[in-house]
Amino acid sequence: MKKHAITLTVNGEERDLLVSSNRTLLDALRDDLGYTDTKYGCGTGECGACTILVDGMTTINGCLTLAATMNGKSITTAAGLARNGHLHPVQEAFIENDAIQCGFCTPGMVLKTISLLDENPAPTEAEIRHGLEGNICRCTGYTKIVEAVQDASRRISGSNTSAMGE
Ligand code: FES
Ligand code: FES
Repeated sequence: MKKHAITLTVNGEERDLLVSSNRTLLDALRDDLGYTDTKYGCGTGECGACTILVDGMTTINGCLTLAATMNGKSITTAAGLARNGHLHPVQEAFIENDAIQCGFCTPGMVLKTISLLDENPAPTEAEIRHGLEGNICRCTGYTKIVEAVQDASRRISGSNTSAMGE
């Protein structure tokens, strides 16, 4: 199968790799580049575990995206969110509101929340539930996650930082 030489900027670091035409971005991130914080859940676009940010605040499902189409793109995974030794406010809010049990959905949930709050800094509960509906959690029952997103919204607006924590 044809191979494609691509360059991705992942969490601020330029990475060159050779991928076959059918290699998903999720597999390239996890297996070729070692970003195992991006999770494989369903592989079919249903669960959101593989959510990543592309070129800023656009969320995509890594399992539905071919790596060869992403040449030159800038990607943020959950591992790239901390700044100066501090977790992102959304990560802190998830921890402090007990919005994590097994943690498998959490990287995707956090990245989706960052995108959601960038678009709508003070979402209602209904808007939060709608915004996160593509991200499935098997453990928490969602109430804690909604509370974490509300808390993250207050943290980000209170500190006058952008949703990227800068
Ligand atoms: S692994 Fe991509 S949406 Fe489930
Ligand atoms: S905390 Fe387990 S799947 Fe969400």
